Amino acid sequence: MNLQELLEAFPEEIPFNEAAEIIKDFPEEERRKAFEEIRKKQHGFWDDPEQVHYYSEVHHRVPLTGQHFRELARAVDPKPGETIIDLGCGVGTFLKFLLTENKTQQLKIVGIDYSDRALKKAKERLAGLTQGIDIKYISQDLKSPLPFEDNSVDKAISNWAIVYLSRNELKNSLREVKRVLKEGGKFFFSALIRGGARKHLSPENLGFLISSVLQEPGATFKALRFEKKCRSYFPEYSLEELKGMMKEAGFEILETKYTVVGKTATIIQKA
Ligand SMILES: C[S@@+](CC[C@H](N)C(=O)[O-])C[C@H]1O[C@@H](n2cnc3c(N)ncnc32)[C@H](O)[C@@H]1O
Repeated sequence: MNLQELLEAFPEEIPFNEAAEIIKDFPEEERRKAFEEIRKKQHGFWDDPEQVHYYSEVHHRVPLTGQHFRELARAVDPKPGETIIDLGCGVGTFLKFLLTENKTQQLKIVGIDYSDRALKKAKERLAGLTQGIDIKYISQDLKSPLPFEDNSVDKAISNWAIVYLSRNELKNSLREVKRVLKEGGKFFFSALIRGGARKHLSPENLGFLISSVLQEPGATFKALRFEKKCRSYFPEYSLEELKGMMKEAGFEILETKYTVVGKTATIIQKA
């Protein structure tokens, strides 16, 4: 398969993980070109108005994902005076849950994302919730160094976001999160996991999936389609691979939890 054929087949016929294997055998210049073009498609995916609409209006209405957002927001448990960064904040859905589930004021929050369309939506959605909160939005690709001093952040979150970086970028990004967190600061990381649901689809989870379909059929089917797209556009890592990268970056893993019927894992870690 040549470069042109690969790019035509990505992501519908050839998902990211398979494409990355094929690209390994290309000559260096074509390899560079292939990843550059794939990156453009990935960025286009997040910046697409349809995508921004889905993520701001539909995604959290699905009982399965709504519960995930609430649990994560409670786990972060912000305290007055803390600096919290949200890596890949998108349209601000997680931050909205964070600010409504916890009424803490005097927080400093920074949301970073490379979709300007998503950031604009985040500003609109959070405008009424940020009294007493110093909130900033930064448009930046998370593969680049984070714009914070060493040891300056209390808590970092990346919910279904930095995991979409490719392996070496993700490793660098984890090292960056470790660098900016204060000693003992926490990192809350959530991601779709390769093979997660197959191992963890318990009768209880299956019941939850069925009740989600019954309560919000349209939104649940849209969410399943969205998940399928994410799994084809972006790398998929197993839980073991992710934990390995986190330990390598210097984190101590405190807790791992499966949510969304076992398809997502949340890893809470200490810097
Ligand atoms: C599934 S959304 C999650 C949004 C948010 N974390 C939440 O849970 O509400 C993923 C977000 O990550 C952002 N993202 C993905 N890769 C990125 C990168 N390399 N640099 C910056 N943002 C990125 C996308 O633009 C998108 O807004």
